[in-house]
Order: sequence, then structure tokens, then C-alpha cells
Amino acid sequence: MGGRSNAAKKALEFVKSGMVVGLGTGRTSEIFIKLLAKKKLRIICVPTSKRSERVARRAGLVVKELNEVKRVDVAVDGADQVDKGLNLIKGYGGALFREKIVDYAAKRFVVIVDESKLRDELEGWVPLEVSSFAVEQVRRELGWLGADSRLRMKGKKRFITDNRNVIVDAYFERINGPEKLHETLKDIPGVIETGIFAGGVWKVIIGSEKGVRLLS
Ligand code: A5P
Repeated sequence: MGGRSNAAKKALEFVKSGMVVGLGTGRTSEIFIKLLAKKKLRIICVPTSKRSERVARRAGLVVKELNEVKRVDVAVDGADQVDKGLNLIKGYGGALFREKIVDYAAKRFVVIVDESKLRDELEGWVPLEVSSFAVEQVRRELGWLGADSRLRMKGKKRFITDNRNVIVDAYFERINGPEKLHETLKDIPGVIETGIFAGGVWKVIIGSEKGVRLLS
């Protein structure tokens, strides 16, 4: 079994019958969703994307929207980068806005990754969900901050999120203050959410070929 599968399997231990469970987005989360369905627990699931919703429904899980539940007990989601302080970069799959809402709504936010996602410090591309109305102005402001940026494309068309916005990826060679950078970026009018998840993680499960280890 690969690192992603081992991490997903370990996360099952944190889900019990009676819980409301936030379902993340991405390859690792999809492995988790399918394994979770096989356990036949009495749970309600709140997906963080339309894609995860489809996977969950197909697997036979009970799915509701966040507005339809009173709480989220645990959310299990992947990440693109994890640093030593359990800060994350998410959104390389384009689902960061709903992910942040559901993951942060959860009493316990569990991250499932393989070892390739670990970093000493977050670095490189930071996805931003941006109103399409504001794209060029947001990119100008990123330029003033010294960041290169690119509009996320899907083939020849703009990538459109589940919320009908676009994704701008901004490049930062080093990110030594994730929370500060998140705040700076979120302050740009037109930026709806950033892919920097600074804090808020309960546990990170790191899967490898051999097994798992946990950070908390
Ligand atoms: C989705 O937009 C992302 O935030 C994912 O959680 C992240 O890309 C991890 O995905 P993988 O499990 O596919 O690497």
C-alpha cells in the first residue's frame, strides 16, 4: 500500500458512528472517502467540493451541505505542503475555499499526506480564490508585493471553482510567516480566500510505504 493509502486508512480511526464528517478533496481524500464508505458507519458527510460529493454519493455515503448540519465533528483532508508548525498550503486542486470553511468548522481537523508533502518551510505557489471581476487588479497588487502570479487554466479556458470564481496562483520563494502572508493576501480586495492554512490542524498523518507517523 502506498503512503497516501496508509495515511487515509489511519484516519479512519478518528471517525465513529454518530459523527458529522467533513470530506476533503484530492487523491488522498478520495481514497479516504472510499475506505470510509466500506466501514458502513452511521455518519453524515459534508464534502468540500462537488467532486468529493460525487465520489461520496457513489460510494453510498449520506451527504449533506454545511448549512444542513449543526456541527462538524471531524474533517479529514489532504494538503499540498505541510511545514513543521503544521501550517499548510492547499488548493492545488482548486478546492481551497470550501475546504477552509469545512476544515476549520470541524472540532478536529485531520490532515492526510504522504511524505512528499513535508517541508521545513512553506514555499512556492500559493493558490488564491479570486473573484473573476478582480483578477487583473489582484495580479497587479501581487506584483507590488513582489510576487509573480498566473491565472489557473483548464486547457484553454480559465479554471472555474465550485463557487464560480477563478484561481490565481502567486509565487513566494520563501514563506517564513504563513499567518502574516495569509492576512496580507486576504486583505487584497477581490481575494476571497487563500490556500494558506495557518494553524488549526489537530493532527497530520504522514503515510509512507512502511506505515504512518503522526504530528500534532
Ligand atoms: C484541493 O484543492 C487540495 O487542497 C488538496 O487537498 C490537495 O491538493 C491534496 O491533494 P492530493 O491528495 O491529491 O495530493
